[in-house]
Amino acid sequence: MNKTITTILNTPYKFGKTELKNRVVFQPMEGCDCKENGAPSELTIEKYRKTAASGASVVWFEANAVCAEGRTNPRQMMLDNKNLSEFKALLEELKEISQRENGFAPLFFLQLTHSGRQSIKPMIAYHNPVYEKTRPVSDDCIVTDEYLDTLPQLYSDSAKLALEAGFDGVDVKSCHGYLFQELLSAYDRPGKYGGSFENRARLYLDCVNSASVWASGSFFIVTRLGVSDMVEKPYGFGTDEHNNLDLTESDLLIGKLVSSGVHMLNVTIGNPYYNPHVNRPFRTGAYTPPETPEVGLKRFETVEKHIKEKFPSLTVVGSGLSYYRRELLEKAEEQIEKNICDLAGFGRVTLAYPDFFRDYLNGEFDPKKCCAACSRCTELMRGKQVSGCAVHNGYYKKLYERLKAKK
Ligand SMILES: Cc1cc2nc3c(=O)[nH]c(=O)nc-3n(C[C@H](O)[C@H](O)[C@H](O)COP(=O)(O)O)c2cc1C
Repeated sequence: MNKTITTILNTPYKFGKTELKNRVVFQPMEGCDCKENGAPSELTIEKYRKTAASGASVVWFEANAVCAEGRTNPRQMMLDNKNLSEFKALLEELKEISQRENGFAPLFFLQLTHSGRQSIKPMIAYHNPVYEKTRPVSDDCIVTDEYLDTLPQLYSDSAKLALEAGFDGVDVKSCHGYLFQELLSAYDRPGKYGGSFENRARLYLDCVNSASVWASGSFFIVTRLGVSDMVEKPYGFGTDEHNNLDLTESDLLIGKLVSSGVHMLNVTIGNPYYNPHVNRPFRTGAYTPPETPEVGLKRFETVEKHIKEKFPSLTVVGSGLSYYRRELLEKAEEQIEKNICDLAGFGRVTLAYPDFFRDYLNGEFDPKKCCAACSRCTELMRGKQVSGCAVHNGYYKKLYERLKAKK
């Protein structure tokens, strides 16, 4: 890469004994485009080739189910023993691409998930009247303690497979209303996974610990945490009865994660199935949000700053930047400079304009190619299509037009 600009975003960052070349993280962006066996399809591979060439120092792979019943859709990524060789080949190719294009390989993390309520057949922690107003769920969908007891082994197995495939770490994910996140607000669930904070956080922490068996100086256990659902207590985590942020338990949880050896936390907020404007601020989309995007962007900053102050040694990845559109790089730099976060996570813009960082460094950044924050990528997903940028990529644009015509 012919670097002409030196900026905060391309200053190195020490993560453990590893030196990251810059502060840019490509966030997990599910494409719902894997093969039925869970391995990446040509469409998935194409997306990751672009992330490998992007110059980012961390490429955070999308949600990967730890078991078939925990998949959100039949095309969700799912690494297993049978498709391991396909992942291995992909990782090898990606490392070659990044070495060739940028002279270094980023860290590749795989996001491990169980989709819980959003699984093909819902598997819920408890009946949540807020979510079930529009999507009722029967009693037999409540997962038993015996079932939950089996998950730590699955997380350990998936982490081992990720290591064998060539990933540099796994994210034990708890966010966006999926199983672990829902357990965090299971105040009324009886038994060892409900009620007290210790019980509600038990499974998440057990899975972090079981995956950590494979941790080393070159294989990391990281996490994406929904620090607040922005759903009123007792139906959401990190929020009080009036739907204001309440980070008391979030802090407790982060303290426990740090004690368990998690040193990188990718911050997220909200539930994209219920209040998507919180998680991915937008002005227009499937509905008009009840708050301006600026309120959502400020919330991200408040939460990230709070975590950074409480846990100065923790590497904090910031989120929600794509709405800044043409100003997103300056905003990311400002946040790092103000110690709001250490690394800047970019989501939707990576689908719209995967070369944005390279172009920036080369003095060729083109604001017209940025994410329009139009929510079409999310609409494609919700419409059970493969997901990508329906503004700047002709393939997804056509899919989106067809979806709209059908509606
Ligand atoms: C189409 C789409 C797919 C996503 N897939 C994932 C995912 O697999 N895992 C995850 O943690 N977040 C996922 N997200 C959330 C993003 O990683 C990110 O947090 C969010 O888009 C806000 O960042 P941004 O403003 O830079 O887009 C997804 C978001 C979108 C729009």
